[in-house]
Amino acid sequence: MTVNYPRIGVIGAGAMGRGIAQIAAQAGSEVLLLDSFAGAAERGREALAAQWNKLHEKGKIDAPTRDAYVARVKAVDGMQALAGCDLVVEAVVENLEVKRTLFRELEDVVAPTATLVTNTSSLSVTAIAAGLQHPARFAGFHFFNPVPLMKVVEVVAGFKTSPEVCQKLAGYATQMGHSAVHAQDTPGFIVNHAGRGYGTEALRIVGEGVADFATIDRILKDQAGFRLGPFELLDLTALDVSHPVMESIYHQYFEEPRFRPSVITAQRLAAGALGRKTGEGFYRYEDGVMQQTP
Ligand code: NAI
Repeated sequence: MTVNYPRIGVIGAGAMGRGIAQIAAQAGSEVLLLDSFAGAAERGREALAAQWNKLHEKGKIDAPTRDAYVARVKAVDGMQALAGCDLVVEAVVENLEVKRTLFRELEDVVAPTATLVTNTSSLSVTAIAAGLQHPARFAGFHFFNPVPLMKVVEVVAGFKTSPEVCQKLAGYATQMGHSAVHAQDTPGFIVNHAGRGYGTEALRIVGEGVADFATIDRILKDQAGFRLGPFELLDLTALDVSHPVMESIYHQYFEEPRFRPSVITAQRLAAGALGRKTGEGFYRYEDGVMQQTP
């Protein structure tokens, strides 16, 4: 089987970029990993190599498969390195202007036929594409964290996105072992729109003194069947990602009160208690493992 995009670029080597790089390499694509923070792309590549090695040690993949995956991922410097890519996936900070600027610069580098996608959780795909010379080849390709385990990806059509681009992306999702869901470009798409209430209402329950967050997490897992409680989910996503998403959806829906972000997350964001990645969120973590309940 020929993979839909033999050579892809992934911009942003954080949690999401690494995960996308992993499943893309496993699908057979050559992956060029780029990050603006010095050394981050190489650290991302090393983390992926270590992960595949662990899978090999556990007997889940054989040595030639591990070596093939590792060989497919390269850390690169500078956007120019992405010139020959068929697809470029952006997974950088959730900021409209940063994403817009990035894609404008990228269009000067890649071929006009290359597909460009954003992994944004909440920003308008149409707004990111505004100002591009070829907006028809631009779409949202929204994965969930952790990417290899969360098997759904939203393919988001902006105002000018061509249906063929969405179809090809959906086919690629299948090649990566994921399943695509098509969504129109609305704030939060499907999952972050429907899921808004999960976080914001839980934060209101804490704010009103009804229950503490560990209790809310426990009851929603035990009684409602959710895999993660809302506060465990906020810790996994990290507040520097999820709080801007809350703000963005709230503003895009013209300050609709039911989407209003919480002062609890705003304060924790200001304090740097972001979640697992800083070792402290609603819970405490050591090497990403929960150590202490509040
Ligand atoms: P992260 O903070 O783990 O990683 C972002 C990376 O992008 C960092 O390594 C940073 O150095 C790099 N970066 C920032 N600006 C850059 C630029 N201009 N050029 C190149 N690299 C740049 O963030 P994470 O969690 O990976 O999120 C990335 C994107 O994915 C955001 O748009 C977020 O909304 C979206 N997303 C996040 C999810 C999550 O649960 N964390 C889930 C789904 C989407």
